[in-house]
Amino acid sequence: MYNPHGGKLISRIIDDEKNQAYSQDVSNLKTISINNKIKSDIINIANGVFSPLEGFLREEDYLNVLQNMRLSNDIPWTIPIVLDAGSEQLEHIEEGDSIALTDSSSIIATMELEDIYSFDKSEMAQKVFGTTDKKHPGVNKVYSMKENILGGKITLINKPETPFDKYFSTPYETRHIFSKKGWDSVVGFQTRNVPHIGHEYLQKTSLSLVDGVFINPVIGKKKTGDFKDAIILDSYEALLKNYFPEDRAMMSIFQTEMHYAGPREAIFHAIVRKNFGCTHFIVGRDHAGVGDYYSPYAAQEIFNEFDDLEIQPIFFKSFFFCKKCNSIANDKTCPHDESQHINFSGTEIRNAIINGEKPSSAVMRPEVAETIIKYDNPFVD
Ligand code: ADX
Repeated sequence: MYNPHGGKLISRIIDDEKNQAYSQDVSNLKTISINNKIKSDIINIANGVFSPLEGFLREEDYLNVLQNMRLSNDIPWTIPIVLDAGSEQLEHIEEGDSIALTDSSSIIATMELEDIYSFDKSEMAQKVFGTTDKKHPGVNKVYSMKENILGGKITLINKPETPFDKYFSTPYETRHIFSKKGWDSVVGFQTRNVPHIGHEYLQKTSLSLVDGVFINPVIGKKKTGDFKDAIILDSYEALLKNYFPEDRAMMSIFQTEMHYAGPREAIFHAIVRKNFGCTHFIVGRDHAGVGDYYSPYAAQEIFNEFDDLEIQPIFFKSFFFCKKCNSIANDKTCPHDESQHINFSGTEIRNAIINGEKPSSAVMRPEVAETIIKYDNPFVD
């Protein structure tokens, strides 16, 4: 198993004893109210999922991430993890303050506010997403951000409950589980989808090279038309129960929002899985892509720009089912022409499900399909 990104697992959680004393102190702090996206960032920073980050990016790091895809200490980092705030929220707050980050019911974390800076939204969009088109769901979120960014270390004080907590293990826990299972090499699988046969083929082909597969679905706000979180989890449980040896596969969630940033997000996804203890990471066709903003293999090519990631990517060409081969294949393995190929098309799977039909067993396991069609509306509105 590799070291966590940057060398050590970050933990920014207040311990219980300190918490007693602390809770009186923090009630006097100036507060900033935060949304669910920021809350999930805080939890990920605090648990070491985003190691080596100890807080939200300061300006120097932010600019380096945009320009060079690295923190200012040269450690690779591709997606800015930032806390935005409106000027009206910053009245009476200044650099150097300790502040409390709150939701509607409690103080979630404290922050040593080191930097308050402004930023250029179109620059952020262009650098991270390669476009300023507001139809891109990630770009759209950038344009709805408030006008200031706050940088500095955070400390988690009250972890908010989420409906899917029972599916979450911290990097400290996953690393422990992997060693208990005797897995020296583990391949991480990112997904925002229910599993089709192509996904399973990626997982199993990679698993044949390593000791275990870590299936790590993104659970959190997604775009309209994506599958709802509960359905992704239920369908994976059906797949794992029926088609994977128990001692070779494990599922745990990554609570975050998808950015749909294609290549940059692929590097970010690999770093997070390295923190969970993975040695390898699967990158297939159009990883973390949306529409046709990224070329199908851009998320693989970007790995050439990093020789110090310390997690091994495993790249796959687009898989399809070939009727003539009577198996899953791709352009590297199949000599037959396209008329023989059935693609794992998200749109076709979606249409079948909307019509109450099970997608064909060439595309989806029947147990997975049955799990999905039980739901009235499996899609995000
Ligand atoms: S993603 O946004 O999380 O990348 P998805 O859950 O569909 O979307 O994909 C998970 C992983 O499987 C990604 O690495 C993606 O590139 C890969 N993948 C999905 N479908 C295919 C396919 N037909 N052939 C090759 N790789 C694929």
